[in-house]
Amino acid sequence: MSQFFFGKTDLVQLTANHSRPFYFYNLDDAVTRARAFMKHGTRVHYAMKANSNARLLQAFAREGLGVDVVSLGEMQKALALGLDPKKIIFSGVGKDREELESALQHRILQINVESFEELQHLEAICQERRAHMDIALRLNIHLEAPTHKNIQTATPESKFGLDQRQLPDVLGWLKASPRRVKLKSLTVHIGSQILDVPVFEKMSVEIGKIYSGVKAQGFSLERLDLGGGLGIDYKTKGEDDLARLEQYMKVLLQSHATGAEIMLEPGRFLVARMGVLLAKVVYVKKTADRQFVILNAGMNNLMRPALYQSYHRIEPLAPREGSENYSIVGPICESTDVFAADRRMNVVERGDWVGIFDAGAYGAVMANTYNESQLPAEWSVLNGAMEVT
Ligand code: LLP
Repeated sequence: MSQFFFGKTDLVQLTANHSRPFYFYNLDDAVTRARAFMKHGTRVHYAMKANSNARLLQAFAREGLGVDVVSLGEMQKALALGLDPKKIIFSGVGKDREELESALQHRILQINVESFEELQHLEAICQERRAHMDIALRLNIHLEAPTHKNIQTATPESKFGLDQRQLPDVLGWLKASPRRVKLKSLTVHIGSQILDVPVFEKMSVEIGKIYSGVKAQGFSLERLDLGGGLGIDYKTKGEDDLARLEQYMKVLLQSHATGAEIMLEPGRFLVARMGVLLAKVVYVKKTADRQFVILNAGMNNLMRPALYQSYHRIEPLAPREGSENYSIVGPICESTDVFAADRRMNVVERGDWVGIFDAGAYGAVMANTYNESQLPAEWSVLNGAMEVT
């Protein structure tokens, strides 16, 4: 019997009892990464949109992390799992009345406001309810992050954040009369899957200057929220990850002298590596010029390759002699349902399992039921205990 270890788990043994595609998470890896973030003494609010698995969220909460939520559903899930409301922050461009009211009612730590319109709406709700709310203004500082254009968030065309040119008007409005919203923080998030550390330095310097300027105008700012966005190199197994994290933390913590407490909202970096999507080969289909490996998992289970042409390592679990060039695809009736258009991979046969790696972030959370498919199960191991949650 062959073996294929992922952390301490033998994936060959794990797949033996399965027939449908499923995710497997090595939560010990995520906990190690959470500790690497936390040791720098910043407040870490995990962006739970990356992976909202209940067991993962509870493990992070035990490590002292808070969460960054972007919807009522995420906030309710975090609260239902017993997460501390004082460690919840709420981001997103389209928070509606129900979401804002719920945030007030649960007395979460902070709402990250993304427009003048949202600010005025929130103030009106606070007045109706005679409540106060701590806020951060999320600024769009017009910085183009070197990443796929679909996941840049700080260009002038982007819907995210308050355009920095509107800041003077917003500050004027805040000062004009006593407000129930209390400006405690500024925040910035320039995009996701960013490997270039210098651009984070630039971001940090820019927002640091703005922060000092706002403080000089008499606002009692306390915290600077520097968002998320640190990427991983999907072509590697993560040998460089922790060194990149150290550089990132160094530039974020040293590039401004604001005296602010630093908050971060990492998602991908914490959870991408812990996850693998396991899928079975349905057919190896040969045509005149191609060989297709058709899996039982597709873009319904993992959308990233179809949406962002993203690269994921794919490896067969069974050791077979030789390698071939394959198009590795899913069963969904869409031409974009392709995991890798032309990939050299060890030989596979019908019925073999493959692992699609680094799928812990933006994998299961973006899965859907297109073609009336079922959502994939999520298995995980933590401290040697296997569970499905
Ligand atoms: N904070 C805010 C306000 C965000 O919008 C995001 C991600 C994060 C933090 C966490 O960013 P991270 O550390 O994970 O880069 N589905 C795409 C990624 C979308 C990211 C959305 N916002 C993908 O699969 O690449």
